[in-house]
Amino acid sequence: MPHVMHDDVDRILFSEEQIQQRVGELGAQIVEEYGGRDPHLITIVKGSIPFISDLMRAMDTPLSLDLLGVSSYAGTSSSGEVRLTKDLDSSIEGRHVLVVEDIIDTGLTLSYVLRNLRQRAPASLKVVTFLDKPAGRGTPVEADYVGFTIPDEFVIGYGLDWNQRYRNLPYVGILKRDVYAGPL
Ligand code: IMP
Repeated sequence: MPHVMHDDVDRILFSEEQIQQRVGELGAQIVEEYGGRDPHLITIVKGSIPFISDLMRAMDTPLSLDLLGVSSYAGTSSSGEVRLTKDLDSSIEGRHVLVVEDIIDTGLTLSYVLRNLRQRAPASLKVVTFLDKPAGRGTPVEADYVGFTIPDEFVIGYGLDWNQRYRNLPYVGILKRDVYAGPL
């Protein structure tokens, strides 16, 4: 039997259909609330790639897109160190910036990103996150739009990885315990 990713999944939290439906709703809500102001979407790579891909196609409005690369230092989520790995291509001065995140856990990444972007004088600065894990929060930061709120569990799929794997699962799930414990 070939090894397939699905075998490593203990439980599916959100199916492909549930995700498509929710992302569609989010896109429509954002377009309505922006009321004709063109959003400039800043995607945090790599985890937000599936989300931005679906979200922007659910937004029937002229918009622009840029990518920002951010990483927390070497798997130590408590170290408090965040750094830029890829900067934006263009200026955001005077633009209506919407940051697109995969998940907010401790809030460290997002608060770093917001502090950094605020210095560049956007006309407005909002955040949409696909998932929100409020129980993990150490830094007080919130998204303006949330896809799903989840319990304090480590999730994979739809862009989210464990050791760079499982980003390509079309749904969000929880890994089996023996995958964490076993050899890579
Ligand atoms: P924060 O800085 O702790 O809010 O974490 C944000 C980043 O940590 C996300 O962009 C993810 O890359 C990663 N992360 C946090 N929780 C999870 C999870 O449950 N699964 C996969 N990645 C996660």
